[in-house]
Amino acid sequence: MIEILSPSEIDRARVTGALVADILQTLRERTTVGTNLLEIDRWTRELIEKAGAQSCYVDYAPSFGRGPFGHYVCTSVNDAVLHGRPRDQRLADGDLLTLDLAVLKDGIAADSAISFLVGDARPAESVALIEATQRALAAAIQAAGPGVRLGDVSHAIGQVLTGSGYPVNTEFGGHGIGSTMHQDPHVPNTGRPGRGYTLRPGLLLALEPWVMADTDELVTDTDGWTLRSATGARTAHSEHTVAITEDGVEVLTLPAHLRV
Ligand code: MF3
Ligand code: CO
Repeated sequence: MIEILSPSEIDRARVTGALVADILQTLRERTTVGTNLLEIDRWTRELIEKAGAQSCYVDYAPSFGRGPFGHYVCTSVNDAVLHGRPRDQRLADGDLLTLDLAVLKDGIAADSAISFLVGDARPAESVALIEATQRALAAAIQAAGPGVRLGDVSHAIGQVLTGSGYPVNTEFGGHGIGSTMHQDPHVPNTGRPGRGYTLRPGLLLALEPWVMADTDELVTDTDGWTLRSATGARTAHSEHTVAITEDGVEVLTLPAHLRV
């Protein structure tokens, strides 16, 4: 089912979106060489509770994971790209970390992901991966709006990723979001212009381009959750929750310094 939110629900989505963005920024600022992934998970639980919000992850038990996720944030390092289950691992200089967070507040969910490099090292391939997902996300936001077809948004993402030289996986992509985290429609990271669902004001979408440097094949870690590149190559992921409005699109998960 595709959920269309009322103006007052969109107001609540703005609050949840800002909260998700602020928590991600705080996690990013606290993360340094030597930070343990389980520490990041603990900070996330504390920040969600302090805000009077609920985790979309901790009890989540979809078909693509083994049992409830049991944690508050996805921490995907290097070859891990999606659903990275926090584990006892300390981060090293130059590690590429993706934090993916979804929370529910006052009945409305928001979902966002950032990839960044830990410490001072700036390995060129990792920088290129991160920038490709950021450009693909910007292109998707640029393409979206009322009356636009979903295929136009998917196509915009796919063009940037493919144009940057990366294969595109179609098993996991973006999604509708609203009173729950995962809703219809599915938003593949590649598509055909002019095809698919026509976007309407009140629709909330989580747009989430992600890439693996040299493959489109995923393997599941022995933890039953973490998805890694089949080749061990590095990966990146950028995600925002956006609202389709009467005259365009509003990004709900912008970090504070970019909010108006
Ligand atoms: N937030 C992820 C997404 O972007 C889903 C994570 S599901 C979890 O769709 F259970 F692993 F947390
Ligand atoms: Co998502």
